[in-house]
Amino acid sequence: MTIVLTARDLTRHYQVSRGLFKGYATLRALNGVSFELEAGKTLAVVGESGCGKSTLARALTLIEQPTSGSLKIAGQEVTGASKAERQQLRRDVQMVFQSPYASLNPRQKIGDQLAEPLLINTPLSRAERREKVQLMMQQVGLRPEHYQRYPHMFSGGQRQRIALARAMMLQPKVLVADEPTSALDVSIQAQVLNLFMDLQAEFNTAYVFISHNLAVVRHVADQVLVMYLGQPVEMGPKELIYSRPLHPYTQALLSATPSIHPDPSKPKIQLHGELPNPLHPPTGCAFHQRCRHATPLCSQQTPLLRLLEARQVACHHAEQINA
Ligand SMILES: Nc1ncnc2c1ncn2[C@@H]1O[C@H](COP(=O)(O)OP(=O)(O)OP(=O)(O)O)[C@@H](O)[C@H]1O
Ligand SMILES: [Mg+2]
Repeated sequence: MTIVLTARDLTRHYQVSRGLFKGYATLRALNGVSFELEAGKTLAVVGESGCGKSTLARALTLIEQPTSGSLKIAGQEVTGASKAERQQLRRDVQMVFQSPYASLNPRQKIGDQLAEPLLINTPLSRAERREKVQLMMQQVGLRPEHYQRYPHMFSGGQRQRIALARAMMLQPKVLVADEPTSALDVSIQAQVLNLFMDLQAEFNTAYVFISHNLAVVRHVADQVLVMYLGQPVEMGPKELIYSRPLHPYTQALLSATPSIHPDPSKPKIQLHGELPNPLHPPTGCAFHQRCRHATPLCSQQTPLLRLLEARQVACHHAEQINA
């Protein structure tokens, strides 16, 4: 078992303007996330829009510095790493975005774009680079003649294959994918997901797979991290989270996913209200205003993540409501 990614109490806060002459407020977009990820395994991160998924992705891929906490990639601490070390670490963690346009250059041929990471980071000759690119293109289901084409000449699904191929060129230890199939047709989604899984098996890459779609996550995840307003509320093995979610928020999310019925005999749980304003988070448990099991304790004390039934859960009443 090789741990390739370790996050300890990662936070990312933003200073946001409250308006003219009103000063700044702190927005806690990410507020204390910890996990370990093994080579070849997938951690799926789920939660409603605005819960901090992309913020986590940016911290993990070194696009943004965390406000506090520690991050280790392949055993090496990121905070305090030298510039050269950070450059190496950036190679080890690659990212795939929701829109492949974000990572592809519209004016450069696909083959050249795939060869670029090799050109910058390896001493391979032109012919060797070309050979590697063609092999990778084949692995992601592109044809040799695609080498000469530009991004706009491909379909959305093909472009996402190209983005994935590019991210995999240097065989990173970790791939962070932020809603990689959300913009695709449902019929294409499954193919692209299968490609993700095939490449993971081939290269033993660890994935952090971000999605708001629990049906998608079910296909790919080993571990599931459920976030709410910047905080983890439940984290554990996929089978446990899907078959017996313990946190009321996880229960509501699963219940709202039509194709998944943790327990068909139970009535559907409606999630009322919207995500609270992150600039004015509720006191106590961030979820208490929307929780049907909330008691006065929940508005007074923040529940800590704790071990229960082989996963971590942050709820004061997890035992009672799941008895
Ligand atoms: N650069 C920034 N400056 C200020 N606030 C930000 C910044 N980036 C994100 N936020 C805020 O941080 C919170 C988390 O945003 P984030 O994009 O991580 O959510 P998300 O879970 O990825 O949402 P979605 O599912 O819509 O992609 C939001 O309240 C967002 O408005
Ligand atoms: Mg996002």
